[in-house]
Amino acid sequence: MPTTILENIISLRSKNVKPSPTLAIMQQALSLQASGIKILNLSTGEPDFDTPVFIKEAAIKAINAGQTKYTTVDGTTALKNAIINKFKRENNLIYNVDEITVGAGGKQVIFNAFMATINPGDEVIIPTPYWVSYPDIVRLVDGIPVFVEGKAENQLKITPQQLDDAINPRTKWIVLNSPSNPSGSMYSTDEIYGISQVLRKRKNSHVHILSDDIYEHLIYEKQVFATIAQIEPSLKPRTLTVNGVSKTYCMTGWRIGYGGGPKSLIKTIGMIQSQSTSNPSSISQAAAVEALNGPQDFIAPFQQAYKKRRDFVASKINKTPGLSCLIPPGAFYLYVSCAGLIGKKFKGKVITDDTEFCKMLLEFAKVAVVPGNAFGLSPYFRISYATSDTVLAEACDQINQFCLGCS
Ligand SMILES: Cc1ncc(COP(=O)(O)O)c(C=O)c1O
Repeated sequence: MPTTILENIISLRSKNVKPSPTLAIMQQALSLQASGIKILNLSTGEPDFDTPVFIKEAAIKAINAGQTKYTTVDGTTALKNAIINKFKRENNLIYNVDEITVGAGGKQVIFNAFMATINPGDEVIIPTPYWVSYPDIVRLVDGIPVFVEGKAENQLKITPQQLDDAINPRTKWIVLNSPSNPSGSMYSTDEIYGISQVLRKRKNSHVHILSDDIYEHLIYEKQVFATIAQIEPSLKPRTLTVNGVSKTYCMTGWRIGYGGGPKSLIKTIGMIQSQSTSNPSSISQAAAVEALNGPQDFIAPFQQAYKKRRDFVASKINKTPGLSCLIPPGAFYLYVSCAGLIGKKFKGKVITDDTEFCKMLLEFAKVAVVPGNAFGLSPYFRISYATSDTVLAEACDQINQFCLGCS
């Protein structure tokens, strides 16, 4: 039977990966759109702004200059130097060129790092709510994700005590992501210091830290950005600091991310990349050099626009019956609790959980958002406010109408 053959061909490893709970919603949204229905999409995790012109021009220049060949697998020297300067300038972190790796997005760097280090049964501590890819990458390399809940009373962040309780001899990594996708929450310098002191303990020296700083520049309050290798330099030899150009420079499609970390890890990451994708696009790398070395003043207007949108959407949500959210300091997401609507009905249909809430919101209000289930913490949903003011205003009204109709 053809189906049996097909099923047999799928590896156990792939079967370990759970299909994304966002897919069902996305597919529903796409089929509604295909039938001519207008969907207000608050589900995408990327800036709606275009890549700044000076960055695009650097790419065009690179094409015309013939920079169209293979490059060093883990990044050109020019880009590695731009990254070294960025880490020094913005994070006070000093890396050598052999401590830097460049991949096709932060995602590839994270994938390679876990692939390079995780043995079957090794555990990775992932605070919830989490970016959807962390647990599935861990599963793909035969590791075990261990979830620690970021409690609402602590702005969806974990405490040093919770981390301490979760660490055991099998723990290989802890993932920190601040500002966070999906919550927008951010750890203060003191909070990162508290976490670092748990990790400094001698018996925890087998635990490595993946600090995913991709939303570093999307911060809308006075709070200062802090990354763990800077706050506690003694942890730098076991920290991989990941960042990229996708979010800050509106370059999601260009696929450039990077990491700074210990030499042996960086070397193994490069080796894995050499047997999978080889170098990230030469043209994108040239553009990323310009992004990191060029003027940074265009970031502030983007930040102002995001802050205005955040405040607008949060105030609308907090006036909507059954919904509530924090006003988080960073990223471009709101993580909205829909606890007040679970068990209620709309047009006779029961809202059983956040996935059902999101399906019904799409069906009846024509608004696409992502259920908290996808991020490991329910009952919530994620709104991305990286979209136009008009779409946001219309979507907030539709959400409000839907919730008013629930009883
Ligand atoms: C928390 C987080 N980390 C990493 C990434 C990966 O970004 P990229 O692969 O585009 O650099 C994303 C993208 O959504 C993200 O939200």
